Amino acid sequence: MAEIIHDVASLAWIFQMEASTYCIRLNEEQTSLQHIYWGTRIDTATAREMALAWRTYFVPFESTIGNSREEFAPWGELRFSEPTLKVAYADGTRGIEWHFEAYGIEQEQRKQTLWLRFVDQVYSLQVTLYYRIYTGHDVIERWVRLENSGADAPIMLEQAFSADWQLPHHERYRMTYLHGRWGKETQVTETLLSPGKFVLESRRGTTSHQFNPWVAFDVDASATEEQGEVWSMALAWSGSWKFVAETTSYGTLHCVGGINDFDFRYRLDAGVCLDLPMFVGLYASGGFGESSRKWHLYQRERLLPETLDAVRPILYNSWEATAFAVDERNQMELAEQAASLGIEVFVMDDGWFGERAHDRAGLGDWTVNRAKFPRGLNPLIERVNELGMRFGLWVEPEMVNVDSDLYRAHPDWVYHFHKRTRTESRNQLVLNLARTDVRDWMFTTLDTLLSEHNIEFIKWDMNRSISDPGWPVESGHNPERVWLAYVQNLYWVFDELRRRHPNVAFESCSGGGGRIDLGILSRVEQVWTSDNTDALDRLRIQEGFSYAYAPRAMMCWVTDCPNYLTARTVPLLYRFHVAMAGSLGIGGDLSHWTPQEREEARALIESYKRVRPTVQNGKLYRLRSPRSGQVAAAQYVAQDGSEVIVFAWGHSQQFGETQIVLQLYGLEQEASYSVVDESMHYSGAYLMQHGLKMRLVGDFASQMYHLVRHALA
Ligand code: GLA
Repeated sequence: MAEIIHDVASLAWIFQMEASTYCIRLNEEQTSLQHIYWGTRIDTATAREMALAWRTYFVPFESTIGNSREEFAPWGELRFSEPTLKVAYADGTRGIEWHFEAYGIEQEQRKQTLWLRFVDQVYSLQVTLYYRIYTGHDVIERWVRLENSGADAPIMLEQAFSADWQLPHHERYRMTYLHGRWGKETQVTETLLSPGKFVLESRRGTTSHQFNPWVAFDVDASATEEQGEVWSMALAWSGSWKFVAETTSYGTLHCVGGINDFDFRYRLDAGVCLDLPMFVGLYASGGFGESSRKWHLYQRERLLPETLDAVRPILYNSWEATAFAVDERNQMELAEQAASLGIEVFVMDDGWFGERAHDRAGLGDWTVNRAKFPRGLNPLIERVNELGMRFGLWVEPEMVNVDSDLYRAHPDWVYHFHKRTRTESRNQLVLNLARTDVRDWMFTTLDTLLSEHNIEFIKWDMNRSISDPGWPVESGHNPERVWLAYVQNLYWVFDELRRRHPNVAFESCSGGGGRIDLGILSRVEQVWTSDNTDALDRLRIQEGFSYAYAPRAMMCWVTDCPNYLTARTVPLLYRFHVAMAGSLGIGGDLSHWTPQEREEARALIESYKRVRPTVQNGKLYRLRSPRSGQVAAAQYVAQDGSEVIVFAWGHSQQFGETQIVLQLYGLEQEASYSVVDESMHYSGAYLMQHGLKMRLVGDFASQMYHLVRHALA
């Protein structure tokens, strides 16, 4: 049971979680919140002992408070490292001097929340720090509410991060993070940290392909896939963000993160509150593998929206088949073929609206193109439903083409600076969603679309970074607030649509994986992982994704060969096995598939339906990384241990080495496991100690094993 204990004698709050403990305390003067402990679970008495023994040490020429490992550092007094909060008051005073005012612990079923309020000693700033933990989990959700409790003067926020995570004292930390670009998202990268700051960020107004807002630290590069302590953090924000990992001269490391302070100023008017995004921390003692499994569990049980489906349905997407040239006839044909394979959702991608013959026109005009669909969308939707599938639709509501009725009617609705170029990227401009009229238009447009059609799935795309973030007329007093207001309004539209249309599932896409973060994941069922659908490249993209995010949310398509991006041709079986490691979709042009390919696809889709509860909702063990060696492999164990799925993907055969042995994890030593559709039985001990033997012959050979546990004798 998760528990937050307040110990009066030591002024400490001790968080007892599933397998970890976190401890913080107030200093005697009640002017600073100190970090005491974050690591493997210890008893409450030991945590109390640590809190009581806590001292700041005098170091010549150094700031005692600044060096005291604060949980949330307000800039002011002798603080010189990266602060969490920096403000300017209306009379010109900059810097905060605060004191503790109150705290509370809210207990709900399987969920505990602590809040601690600090107030400026002179000015009207109130800062409430929140911490939330859950029974059965090791995550700590942290966020902050800033309030201007005064009657008139505004407070200018210049830097407002969500949390500061303090790591235990160690000489040398390694940082692991996910970087990339379009078509190459979530690549696992690591670096040893020397004294100084390491910054990860997005200044693009959106999460970005380049860096994902997730980071992990371990000591002396000691953590492996299955062993060692890992501290990791992820931010729930889909706008510009920033993490600063600062290693001090005193063997300490802290990581501050939240909304990017670049080009950021936010005027907090009197009487106004601002909630900063959630920054979530997680401790795991069993290596990167356990860390990932804990992230996945948290996302499945606590973060992803509650949905009608126990498992994600298999979808077909038209993009790679028909691109912009969609019409009623070709979509009906594709739908028929998709249904015959066992697909459950048919998604029509770009091209169905406005004058969308190419990417230079139409964005913004979300009414059906009558040349392509003379009878509207409903006949297609009805046909899709008759075929036993749900209908899904692609939209990109945040964007506009200059060649569109929307832009012609509202040229002032896009971001732009007075007297400056409106910079187009991919022939599109970004709507200024900070504006309430744009927000309301977006909501009404999508609400109407969903109300007038039986649409049960939306692929929500966002295909360029934000530039020229100006709003010449309206926001003269605080133009930089658009960065924040954009995301707040985006979330508002999602939340309202979900409330009004609870039967609709959403997928977040941004040129592939440009908007994957805990903020969007709390509002969508799944994300489009990457526009790169080459199966070999995908293994590395999917591996990185799985460090932070749940396989259930990871949309993976089987597409055609040669692959449009890499020109590589790999067998259909291999493409399926790679895509079956997450939420399966098909994105190829089915009209060109041979009868044999269709037959193979039908059988594989059927077998995916059998294994998907475990793939999507089970525990993932990354057995072999695609970054090393010729064979990559992953294993999924059902939450109740009753079945095990193993995938092995070999990409190039060398030296005639066809045999591989994979030691499995997370099984019961004494239980017996049988391979589905084969007569083989193995004990858990055999599979874990000796391993599952298999042969992978030739290039791009792959195998899937489905093992079922038998009751103990
Ligand atoms: C983006 C998406 C693709 C597709 C196209 C349509 O690139 O990532 O999947 O939807 O837009 O324009």
